[in-house]
Amino acid sequence: MQSSTLPQKKLFGHPSGLFVLFFTEMWERFSFYGMRAILVLYLTAQSTGDNPGLAWTKKEALALYGWYGMFVYFMGIFGGYIADKYLGQKKSVLVGGVFIIAGQFALTIDNISAFYSGLVLLVCGVGLLKPNISTMVGGLYKKGDIKRDSGFIIFYIGINIGALLAPLLVGYIGEKIDWHLGFSLAGFGMILGQIVYVFGRKHLRGVGELLKNSATEAHLADKPLTKEEKDRVVVLLLSFLVVIVFWAAYEQAGGLMSLYTRDSVDRFVFGWEIPTTFFQSLHALYVVLIGAPMAWLWMRWSKSGRESSSIFKMAIGQIIMAISFVALMVSVYEISLSAIGKSPVHWLLLSYFLHVVAELSISPVALSFITKLAPVKYASLMMGAYFAITGFGNKLAGILGEAAQGAGEMTIFALIAGMCLVTGLLLLTLVKKLKKLAHGAEDNIE
Ligand code: PHE
Repeated sequence: MQSSTLPQKKLFGHPSGLFVLFFTEMWERFSFYGMRAILVLYLTAQSTGDNPGLAWTKKEALALYGWYGMFVYFMGIFGGYIADKYLGQKKSVLVGGVFIIAGQFALTIDNISAFYSGLVLLVCGVGLLKPNISTMVGGLYKKGDIKRDSGFIIFYIGINIGALLAPLLVGYIGEKIDWHLGFSLAGFGMILGQIVYVFGRKHLRGVGELLKNSATEAHLADKPLTKEEKDRVVVLLLSFLVVIVFWAAYEQAGGLMSLYTRDSVDRFVFGWEIPTTFFQSLHALYVVLIGAPMAWLWMRWSKSGRESSSIFKMAIGQIIMAISFVALMVSVYEISLSAIGKSPVHWLLLSYFLHVVAELSISPVALSFITKLAPVKYASLMMGAYFAITGFGNKLAGILGEAAQGAGEMTIFALIAGMCLVTGLLLLTLVKKLKKLAHGAEDNIE
């Protein structure tokens, strides 16, 4: 994606608007993950006592959680469509933020209709905000700017700072003090995000505007896609297939891997037993720790003139993901050697680490890739489709996790390793072909 009036002001070598989007999305994610951290706990908490919940069964609560998780990302398609057609990305983010604030505060009202309305508002709000703010990051960079990928990694670090802090703060306040106070804290997070966005808008001039207004775009809107544009969409859709497998593997963390950690891993370190939930923060923690070094490494790699296309990075990421599941297979194998029938914890720590190395090679890269390849008039819609795909990957993760209850962990870990390896190798062999189909959309100019 390209914009004619790109803002020029730079901060740490990146457009200053990046940091406005960074903090807005950091607070949005704080709000999102904070609410998510207490949702199931609130639903299943007893309806009497000091901090009453809704006394749902675990099954009911997990079902709602699953639907919410899927819809919140599926809605990205509509969020993208509305941005392309009616609002532009910039306004969609603003409206999305208002929906999210309204949704979080609806959850603070002790009434079931307010609760459901809150969830619907959140699904619409995130659907409007999340894909569009991501597309706007791409809009900050000119075509061929090699800084674009590292810009997305910086943005991704912001996401994960929010994701890391939220369960600690919102989780603590919600669980120990009052659920509704927890939901309001999540709401205040989004208010801060909105303040950053509104006051930082001057750094986003010319980014995320509705295309219809300018003369060139009016002309663009009537024209069917060219062959080049169609080819690029094919490349994107192919990369989405790989992305489904990636998220299906990655999202084992909250399900199967969490149960495995609880039941089959020796979590004692120097006499202290690491709580199972602690492992849930590992992804975000690792991203914050290794995000910057990884961005730097990829940057050096590409400056040295080696193959550094997004497709290549995604293929490498997928292969690393396969290795992370091999580490888990070794972990399962070690249970049979252990006197206490548990696996040592280091395999799990290694596996989570490799997850994040893979994530940083795939997820921010895919976001960046979409902004390079999507036809301008469908830019937001393609981004929305990516988020919908993520929702689908999440659902597949649940299906695989369930299958492990019958087939056993070793089989499912092996299956996931195999799926990642095959798709990774396939992508690697297709790098040249897909680059050709991308018709230079990825060429670096600097
Ligand atoms: N941690 C990422 C985020 O919250 C996970 C994610 C990636 C979610 C891609 C949706 C799509 O942004």
